[in-house]
Amino acid sequence: MRGTIDVVVGAQWGDEGKGRVVDALGARVDIFARYQGGANAGHTVIVDGKKYVFHLLPSGMLYSGKTCVIGNGVVIDPEQLLTELRELQAQGKDRATLVISGAAHVVMPYHKIIDRAQEGARGMGKKIGTTGRGIGPAYVDKYARCGIRVEDLLDEAVLREKLEQNLDEKNSLLMKLYDEEPLAFDEIFDLALSWGGALAPYVGDASLVIDEGLSEGRGVLMEGAQGTMLDIDHGTYPFVTSSSPVAGGGCVSLGVGPLSVSRVIGVVKAYCTRVGEGPFPTEDTGADGEMLRARGGEYGATTGRPRRCGWLDLAALRYAVRVNGISSIALTKLDVLSGLDGIPVCKAYELDGKRLDHFPTNAGFQQNIVPVYEHHEGWKTDIAPCRTFGELPAQARQYVEFIEKQTGIPVNLIGVGPDRSQTILRDF
Ligand code: GDP
Ligand code: IMO
Ligand code: MG
Repeated sequence: MRGTIDVVVGAQWGDEGKGRVVDALGARVDIFARYQGGANAGHTVIVDGKKYVFHLLPSGMLYSGKTCVIGNGVVIDPEQLLTELRELQAQGKDRATLVISGAAHVVMPYHKIIDRAQEGARGMGKKIGTTGRGIGPAYVDKYARCGIRVEDLLDEAVLREKLEQNLDEKNSLLMKLYDEEPLAFDEIFDLALSWGGALAPYVGDASLVIDEGLSEGRGVLMEGAQGTMLDIDHGTYPFVTSSSPVAGGGCVSLGVGPLSVSRVIGVVKAYCTRVGEGPFPTEDTGADGEMLRARGGEYGATTGRPRRCGWLDLAALRYAVRVNGISSIALTKLDVLSGLDGIPVCKAYELDGKRLDHFPTNAGFQQNIVPVYEHHEGWKTDIAPCRTFGELPAQARQYVEFIEKQTGIPVNLIGVGPDRSQTILRDF
């Protein structure tokens, strides 16, 4: 029988715990495939107390005998990728076979400089709070059809021609608009060639690898980065990333038809966080937000920035269910809510005194909506040791069931701690 595909997608503003969910499901997956974003992502996996943070490598790298694919839609910073690989190799943990799509675009040194220069030039209220990893400018070049792809790093003549063209334009932009120093061609060319040499053994055809796997009955897991509310089309534009984290982005990036996807697993934090600027209706800028940050260790896995914290937003979650076609929820960090007297949960919004049941697509509305909260009863016991749904205190079970009722989607996985072992599976 032909294999099937699960997509793991962030249902909020990123950092929902996608890495740990991919890892928790890893034993039944044969091919792990990252589909978009770049080294702006930071996906944490903890196994037996040992922490790994993946920025570009799929979160399945720790599984022996499996295949990890990086799709066409990812923008690759080779320096970062090679560092990640070296670190894993040094620990003997680079267990999966890696395939990098030759069609994936390369984040070049000038992309990072432009990213930071553009962010610096944005005035108050206009900053996006990018990760400075060159993501936006790399996607700009991709869509402007002048980008350098991984396969170009393997062909000296092509690389020379493309880099010359790019550097002419980028140097003029850097000097005239951003008052930056121009970049020397030879230095970048030599660096890019050395990347090509190092990456060559891994370069392949992502779509073909996946299709062959499916033909052999293998299970594929597509791993999204960022989250629905950071999606270029469906997020809180312009405070978004420059790719398509939504589930459909997986098919586009990896070259598979949508009918091959059997499940869309939306990863949902039991509360909400956002790092960077932009609308966040349920943000708590007071003591409760600080309490969530401290208990949840809410500091960026990539930039170390403190994450903005707030309460679960079910209206935004219903929106995520719709735009991704989420069929299953993986609820993470439920343990962080233990000990609270009451837990506010947003069910709808108000805008100019009128009730809104749906997350609005209008950017102005997104800034001004006021959440309507329902207060949920908390639980006092530590749930970290629980391994079955039945072991959870009644109020925690009710919290989960409330989410299921409000979204119409089953919660099939619950995280009660960051370690691989701290996972409750329900009918999964
Ligand atoms: P990702 O980008 O979606 O993969 O998420 P990150 O790795 O950036 O952030 C999630 C953070 O929460 C990491 O530090 C994880 O180790 C941690 N985490 C994930 N699931 C749980 C959970 O169920 N409980 C607790 N306490 N921490 C978790
Ligand atoms: P993972 O995969 C959370 C945010 C940045 C910024 C905006 C644009 O770990 O969930 P970019 O550098 O992409 O141009 O920044 O998107 N952002 C993330 N926030 N988790 C991420 O990835 C993010 N990747 C980008 O903070 O607001
Ligand atoms: Mg992250």
